Amino acid sequence: MLCLTLTERTIAEDLSCIERNRGYVDLVELRLDALDPNELEKAKSFPDCTDKPVILTFRRKADGGLREVDEKSRLKTLCDILHGNFAYVDVEGDVKKSELRWEEDGQKADFEAAMKRRGVRIIRSFHDFGGVPDDIFSRIARLASHGDIAKVAVTPKSIMDVITLFKIKDEMKEVKDKIIIGMGQYGVCTRILYKRIGSLLSFCCDKASQVGQLDARAMKELYRADRLDERTHVYGIIGNPVMHTSSPRIQNPGFHAIHYNAVYVPFLVDNVRSFFMLAEMIHIYGFSVTVPFKMQVLPYLGKITREVKQIGACNTVTRIGGMWKGTNTDYYGFLSPISDEIERGDIRSALVIGSGGAARAVTFALRNHDVKVTIVNRTLEHARTLSRATMCGYDSLDHINNYSGKVDLVVQTTSVGMSPDEKSDASQGFHFTGEEIAYDLVYKPRETVFLQRAEQAGCRTISGAKMLLGQGMLQFEAFTGYHYPPGIDPEV
Ligand code: ATR
Repeated sequence: MLCLTLTERTIAEDLSCIERNRGYVDLVELRLDALDPNELEKAKSFPDCTDKPVILTFRRKADGGLREVDEKSRLKTLCDILHGNFAYVDVEGDVKKSELRWEEDGQKADFEAAMKRRGVRIIRSFHDFGGVPDDIFSRIARLASHGDIAKVAVTPKSIMDVITLFKIKDEMKEVKDKIIIGMGQYGVCTRILYKRIGSLLSFCCDKASQVGQLDARAMKELYRADRLDERTHVYGIIGNPVMHTSSPRIQNPGFHAIHYNAVYVPFLVDNVRSFFMLAEMIHIYGFSVTVPFKMQVLPYLGKITREVKQIGACNTVTRIGGMWKGTNTDYYGFLSPISDEIERGDIRSALVIGSGGAARAVTFALRNHDVKVTIVNRTLEHARTLSRATMCGYDSLDHINNYSGKVDLVVQTTSVGMSPDEKSDASQGFHFTGEEIAYDLVYKPRETVFLQRAEQAGCRTISGAKMLLGQGMLQFEAFTGYHYPPGIDPEV
C-alpha cells in the first residue's frame, strides 16, 4: 500500500492534497502536528470527508513533529480526535497505553479494548533520525508484541545500514504486520522497494521537499512501487550524489512499455564493495554507474569490454551468468549523434575542451575512428596526461582561439555552463565559423552559452541531453536485450 502523508496547515488543504493524489495512493496519514491549532476541532470528522482509510498521527517534536506541544495535551488531543472514524492510530512505542485516557459516555475505558471494538489498528512507532539502531530486530518484535503494527522509521547512513533493512523481511517473518521506513537519501531505495524489506506500506507526499522523500506520483507511476513483487527484476544506478539523476525516467518507462516486470532504482552509495554485497543479497540484475564510481567498480568485474579497458571507466554493469560484466555506453552514446558524419568522413579533426573522465571517453571514441584530436584544458598537465594516453595534441585553454576555423568538431566536456552556472562558457575566445559541429556534454540547460554562440554562427549543435538519452537507451539494451521502445519521450 502507498500512504500519502498530509502535512498541510488546514483540513481543506489536506483534502485537496488527497484529490491531487487520489489515483496514486491507497490510504492517507493525517498529521495533527502540521495543522494550525484552530483547525484541530475539524479533524475528528476528517475521515468522513474522504473514502481513503486514514491513519491518525500527532507526532512529537522529538520524533520529527512540526510543533512543540505539551505531552499531556498532545495525548489528550489525539484521543479526543480519535473518536472520529479513523482506520489506524499511530502511538509512539514508549507511550504507555495507560497514559492514553479514553473516555466513552463520560466513563474511563481501556484504550486497547476500545480500539479493538472500534476496528482501529494501533501502530506502535519508533523513530531514529541519527542512524539504524543495533537492536532494530528486537525493537520490531517488542513494538509488535501486543498484536499492534510495529513501525520503525530509521535513517540509514551507509549501504551496510541499507543491508540491515533488507535483512528484516527474512529475519522477522514472524512479525506479519510491520512498517519499515528508511529515511534520508540512503533510504530512498528502501522506500521504493518497501515490499522487499517486508514493509506493509510506504509513505509518500504531495511534493517532495525534504531529502529522501518521494512524491506519490513518482512512487505510483515511475517506480510502480506497489506493483513490485518477488519476481520483479531490480536494476539501479549507483553514485554519490545520485538523487538528481534522470536515468530512472529513461529506464522505468522503457521497462513498462515492453511489459518487463522490472524496476530501476537510485542507490546512494558510500562504498562500492558494500554495494556489490547488497547487489548479491537482493539479486540486482544490472546497474548504471555514475560519479565517482566509474573506475572504482573495475576490480569487481569478471568481464569488461574493449572500451572499458581502454578508457579505464565503466558506466554499465550487468549480470552475465555468475559474474558481473562492465561496458561503457558513454562511449557509444557520445558517438551516436555524430555517427553519420564520422562514417562519411566529415569529421576529421576535433577540439576537446577539458580532460576529465568524460573527456577521456570522448577522446578515445574519436581517436578510435581516426579523428585527429587536440585537447585544451585549464590545467595543462592534465591535458598532457590524457594526450599521451590517447596519442593526440594538447594545449592550454588560454590558447583556444588559435583553433578557430581549424576543426570540424568542438566538444565541450567540462561542467562549465551547467546549471546553476548557466552564464559561463569554457570556450570563450573560440570563434565559431559556422562550419563546425558544436557538441556540449552538459545537459542542463539544454541550450548552454557555448551552444547558443555556436548556433548564432550557423553551426550544427548537439546538446548533452542527446548523449544522455543515447547512453541510457544503450544501457536499456544491455539490461533487457531489447531496443529501447519507440514513442517514449523521457523527461531528461
Ligand atoms: P568529469 O569526470 O565529469 O569529466 P572531472 O574529472 O572533474 O569531471 O573533469 C572536469 C574537467 O572540467 C577538467 O578538465 C577541469 O579542468 P582542470 O583539469 O583544470 O581541473 C575542467 N573544469 C572544471 N571547472 C573548470 C573551469 N571553471 N574552467 C575551465 N575548466 C574547468
